[in-house]
Amino acid sequence: LQKQTLKDWIKGQGASKGVSDILLTIASSCTGIAKIVNDAPLDGLIGASSQTNVQGEVQKDLDIITNDLMVADLLTVSSVSAMVSEEIDEVIQNSNKSENANLAVCFDPLDGSSNIDNNGIIGTIFSVLELASNSKNITSSDVLSASRNQKAAGYFIYGPACLLMVSVGNKVAMFALSEKQQQFLLVDGGDVSIAKQSNEFAINMSYQRFWDSAIAKYIEQCLLGEQGKRKKNFNMRWAGSMVADVHRIFMHGGVFIYPSMDKKGSENGKLRFLYEANPMAMLVENAGGMAISNSLPIREIRATNIHQRVPVVLGSSQEVEILLNLYQNTQ
Ligand code: AHG
Ligand code: MN
Ligand code: MN
Repeated sequence: LQKQTLKDWIKGQGASKGVSDILLTIASSCTGIAKIVNDAPLDGLIGASSQTNVQGEVQKDLDIITNDLMVADLLTVSSVSAMVSEEIDEVIQNSNKSENANLAVCFDPLDGSSNIDNNGIIGTIFSVLELASNSKNITSSDVLSASRNQKAAGYFIYGPACLLMVSVGNKVAMFALSEKQQQFLLVDGGDVSIAKQSNEFAINMSYQRFWDSAIAKYIEQCLLGEQGKRKKNFNMRWAGSMVADVHRIFMHGGVFIYPSMDKKGSENGKLRFLYEANPMAMLVENAGGMAISNSLPIREIRATNIHQRVPVVLGSSQEVEILLNLYQNTQ
């Protein structure tokens, strides 16, 4: 039986032509990125570059190459009005846009860059927003005030297989890059939902002394296992790459936590709202999970800076619910 192509699936989801053009372009860019990532060790593309990004993080060669590729490809799409990339300071304008273009694409071209050198899992995260304005020059506040109007979101994961998880509003579907056909095909049973219950958490334990009290209480109970009031044993995973951690939660449940911390520069955690937290929240919610930032749903956040960081808790609804209660009752 023939597998469904990404193009046919998007058509069946009733996405607009503008959104569809963007998704197919990103899929083609990321097909290129999968190749670049594969060849990176032979091309000398592992290790740090000499540049830092707007957040003061050292950029890897691959951060820059993948960013440039995505920006160049998306600039050719007439429905793209503007872009926000993790690697670029300002909103990127598209001078090739059509008169009524009103879509903004926000992306993290390479997520999990600390995994590059050890051949660990990395990915690309994207979000498509519908802007209220179709003016020539799109400002940061135009993009930020469209953040609740997400038309599509997804991530690519460059692991043993190259996968795409995507939603254009209702379901979340899983595609795999066919090496032979060089295109994304729907994986059988491709509609994905997140298990309501789980006994696995993902958090960077080395920051324990900086956690807020809600997180500290939650993890304390997980660690007590059968002997605590949760009355079940927990397992722990931390990939150091959000795409890998979130993907695991899609496959077998769990909770992913990057909290606010009592540490200079980490008051709002680490993950960025527009191109990490917001798209992942859309995917997680559309798969039946929950995504919160302290006691607020991530998708209701009103950020004031395009590179703003926000605390993130997402995954299996029963676990996120417990954390939500802790946030509501402890702060
Ligand atoms: P990026 O590589 O785009 O900067 O993002 C890395 C993020 C995220 O993928 C991951 O969950 C987190 O950083 C890991 O942070 P720690 O190194 O603090 O654990
Ligand atoms: Mn990232
Ligand atoms: Mn990145």
